[in-house]
Amino acid sequence: MSYPAARPRRLRQNENLRRLVRQTHLTVDDVILPLFVRPGQSIDDPIGAMPGCSQMSIDVLVEECRQVAGMGIPGVILFGIPDEKDPVGTGAYDPKGIVPSSIRAIKAAVPDLLVWADVCMCEYTSHGHCGIIVDGDVDNDQTLPLLAKASVAYTDAGADVIAPSDMMDGRVAIIRQALDGEGFSETPIVSYAAKYSSAFYGPFREAAESAPQFGDRRSYQMDSANSDEAIREVALDLDEGADVVMVKPALSYLDIIYRVKETFSVPVAAYHVSGEYSMIKAAAQNGWIDEKRVMLEALTSIKRAGADMILTYFAKDIANL
Ligand code: PBG
Repeated sequence: MSYPAARPRRLRQNENLRRLVRQTHLTVDDVILPLFVRPGQSIDDPIGAMPGCSQMSIDVLVEECRQVAGMGIPGVILFGIPDEKDPVGTGAYDPKGIVPSSIRAIKAAVPDLLVWADVCMCEYTSHGHCGIIVDGDVDNDQTLPLLAKASVAYTDAGADVIAPSDMMDGRVAIIRQALDGEGFSETPIVSYAAKYSSAFYGPFREAAESAPQFGDRRSYQMDSANSDEAIREVALDLDEGADVVMVKPALSYLDIIYRVKETFSVPVAAYHVSGEYSMIKAAAQNGWIDEKRVMLEALTSIKRAGADMILTYFAKDIANL
C-alpha cells in the first residue's frame, strides 16, 4: 500500500489514537535514583552543576529515602564520600564506612526500598582512580579482592543489589564468588558492563569528589568509538554471573543499548549520567528548552532503545508525573 491509500498521519490525528498506538511507556517502575552520602549531621549541600541533587548526611538521606519510597520509586543507588581517602581506598570496604552505615539506616527506616550499592574505589582513593595504583596505572588483579571485600561489606549491611562500576576485568566473577561464599547467593549483581570513558561524568566527579588526580580512566573504561567491544564486555560479565548489564552513559550510546538487548535478551540497565542531566537543567534554566518535555523525550528514547530500567537523577520528576 502506498500513498494516497497509505496515510500514516491517520493514526496521529488526536491524542487518544496516539495513545492506542504508542509503543513505549515510561513510568516510575523504570527508574532508580542515585544519591550521594557523606559523614556528618543535617548536611544537605546542593551540588552546583546538578540542580536538584545534593550531598546528604545519613539522617537527611534516610528522610529522602522515605520520601522516595512514598513516591513509588523502586530503589536508590548510593555513592559515598568518605571523610578520609588513602591510596588503597580503605573507606570503600570498611564495614563501618559511610555506605554500609547508610545502608543499615535506610533498611531500618524503609525496608522495602531497594538499596543498590555502587562498588568502586574512586570515591575512596586519594588519587581518585578506581583501583590500586602500581607503576602509574590501576593494577587489575590487586584491585579485585578489594572490590569483593566492599561487595560483601555492603551486602552484609543489607544492600539489595551490588553494582560494580570499576571496569576491572574479572570483577563480576570474584564478587559473585565472594557473595556466594558468605551466604549471599540471592543478591543480584548489576554490572556496569559497557561503561565508557566519558566526559559526561564531569558533574558527578564534583558531586562524588572523585576526579582522578593524575591521568584519566582510559586504561580501564571503554573507548567511546567502540561497539563490538561492548558486546564482548557484556558477554564476559554475563558469563561471570551478572544478572543485569548496564550501558553507561545512555543518550550517546543508544546504539549500544539496542545491540546489547538484541544480542542477549537479558535485563538491561542504562545510566543517564550527570552530564546528560546537567545539560538539560542548564538549557532549561536559560529558557532554551522545555525541561519536562526534553526529559521525557530523552528518557523515553533510552527505554525505546531497549533499556528495561534507567538510573536517573530525574527519577523523582518521573514519579511526580
Ligand atoms: C564510579 C562512577 C562514576 C559514575 C558512576 N560510578 C564516575 C566515573 O567513572 O568517573 C558516573 C555517574 C554520573 O556521571 O552520573 N566509577
